[in-house]
Amino acid sequence: MWWRARSSRGGSARCDDERRKACGVDERREAYDDDERRKAYGVDERREAGGGKAVSANSPLSTPFTTQVGIEVPLICGPMYPCSNPELVAAVSEAGGIGIVQPISLTYVHGHEYREGLRLIKRLTSKPIGFNALIEASSKLYLDRMIKWVDISLEEGVRFFITSLGNPKWVCEKVHAVGGVVYHDVTEKKWAQKGLDGGVDGLIAVNNRAGGHAGRLSPRELFDELAPLGVPLVSAGGVGTASEFVDQLAIGYAAVQLGTRFIATNECKASDAYKSAIVESDEADITLTERLTGLPVSVINNDYIRRLGTKAGPFARWMLKGHRTKHWMRTWYALNSLRRLKAGLTKDSGAGEYWQAGKSVAGIHGVRPAGEIVREFAEAYALRSRSSVR
Ligand SMILES: Cc1cc2nc3c(=O)[nH]c(=O)nc-3n(C[C@H](O)[C@H](O)[C@H](O)COP(=O)(O)O)c2cc1C
Repeated sequence: MWWRARSSRGGSARCDDERRKACGVDERREAYDDDERRKAYGVDERREAGGGKAVSANSPLSTPFTTQVGIEVPLICGPMYPCSNPELVAAVSEAGGIGIVQPISLTYVHGHEYREGLRLIKRLTSKPIGFNALIEASSKLYLDRMIKWVDISLEEGVRFFITSLGNPKWVCEKVHAVGGVVYHDVTEKKWAQKGLDGGVDGLIAVNNRAGGHAGRLSPRELFDELAPLGVPLVSAGGVGTASEFVDQLAIGYAAVQLGTRFIATNECKASDAYKSAIVESDEADITLTERLTGLPVSVINNDYIRRLGTKAGPFARWMLKGHRTKHWMRTWYALNSLRRLKAGLTKDSGAGEYWQAGKSVAGIHGVRPAGEIVREFAEAYALRSRSSVR
């Protein structure tokens, strides 16, 4: 793996230096142990650098990502609207990976006042958690709310942020000022470069097997396209089993982000019907629909989707083409999809629901505790790392 190859070349000082460069850690961020700043943000010792205790770079599970974020297992439970509930986020972090808070899911779907929701998660785990900042700036009201959520997250000790859409510069400035780390969601090099220009430390590479808004390229193609940019990459999409997890790390990814696998867990508040649909579906049951957000979203092809069709209607397409009208159409899609997905999370009928899921359904055969999944994947990776060293 590229980071192991790099770190085996020199002595420990050089090794640290190279790892820092590989991780995009610069002097500015290393100054985060400034006492004043720590106090200003209410950072408690345990939660610095992503919130965790120091994790040894010599652990068989260590990657540039685990070192940067201060966790044990290179595994992220990705943000999921509407499926990210506090218990799920906490369970993944507690087991050594990192759970990501989706703020609209936390507040609008699961009914927590934002800061109280974060504190609930912190009561369930003392380990690092992350935050998803969807930063497209078309609504001032939404952007103001997002700025507030980012500030509260920092005050509560969150140090890992995933930005999606838009320019992540303002998030990077706030997060780097307290020594945190920002990764940006991308599906291709053009967006990756924009993220890096905004100052991000790494990239979440969303591939063509992902749940939610899928990318166009396979995990391998995306890795080859993004690796020359020289920052750690996280593979997002298509991983449902331990061996698929290990395969992604073997490509050279520094971590793997999973979504669908964690919906079929005891901790996720999705309905039993939604979880069963994931367990029973195969790759061929996953389709892309534009009807939900105007962009292709990966969903289970249930009776409802088949009845509705997957293409945006002619009126929506016309609105999305117009320079002025596209803003209105996107806002309508955004609000409508939030409402529809919230309603579909807990309904047990399957008659009128969008159930988002990716092709990883093929490897998901049961509803399990989230921590058990993290531990199984970690063991498989440790085993593969040990056997490749021999
Ligand atoms: C139900 C669902 C909701 C999602 N919501 C979000 C979201 O709100 N923000 C985001 O950045 N990614 C979202 N994603 C993408 C996931 O964070 C993750 O990258 C993706 O699920 C990985 O693919 P997988 O489902 O094959 O594991 C969502 C995915 C799913 C399945």
